Amino acid sequence: MSDDKKDGKLEFNNAYKGLFHFLWTDKRIPKQINTLLETVHPSNLLEFGCGLGYFLEFVENNGVKATGIDFSSVAIEKAKKRLDKNTNKPILLEGDVTNLQFDDNQYDCILDIGCFHSLDGNDEKKYIIEAHRVLKPNGTLLIWSLKKSFADNVKINPEHIKNISKENFVLEKAEFTRRRLAGSYWYWLKKFV
Ligand SMILES: C[S@@+](CC[C@H](N)C(=O)[O-])C[C@H]1O[C@@H](n2cnc3c(N)ncnc32)[C@H](O)[C@@H]1O
Repeated sequence: MSDDKKDGKLEFNNAYKGLFHFLWTDKRIPKQINTLLETVHPSNLLEFGCGLGYFLEFVENNGVKATGIDFSSVAIEKAKKRLDKNTNKPILLEGDVTNLQFDDNQYDCILDIGCFHSLDGNDEKKYIIEAHRVLKPNGTLLIWSLKKSFADNVKINPEHIKNISKENFVLEKAEFTRRRLAGSYWYWLKKFV
């Protein structure tokens, strides 16, 4: 693991140990998650950078087998503790979205709310390759991302997403939003068969 990634992981772990993570942790369910469930009718879903697992909990309670992955061990432990008493528990795993521990063609959809924009350009490419690998043919990748990468300050917009994913996905829709007041986009991508 590169030193930059080690630092990033440490920063996220520290944020989850204290209150800093409330900068992004938001229990409100974005309407795009409902749209995803209603249009894709997934039997399973994988969430990248799942944090404390509020979206996974919602998805699991809607009858979809949900799995979350996050490289912050603190977030995963906290999420497990929080969801411990639930009857339907999502699967929560520590791991890196740029190097996944899953077999090929496993998931109907992947959801990412706020993980993509924390990656640098090199990791963005690995992320796209891994998302493509673990999705089933025609699987959906739904990303919510701010307009700039925290890792290398590169602009993230529909052109950028189209460019980095053109060999693996079709960008079907990009919706501008002001989620949590920040100018950002929802990207709906479909895996090439
Ligand atoms: C801005 S937070 C969003 C968390 C959650 N989706 C939410 O909305 O509350 C980004 C999350 O991505 C995770 N993350 C960043 N880079 C990652 C990577 N390479 N692999 C796995 N998780 C990563 C962080 O630990 C963090 O939990």
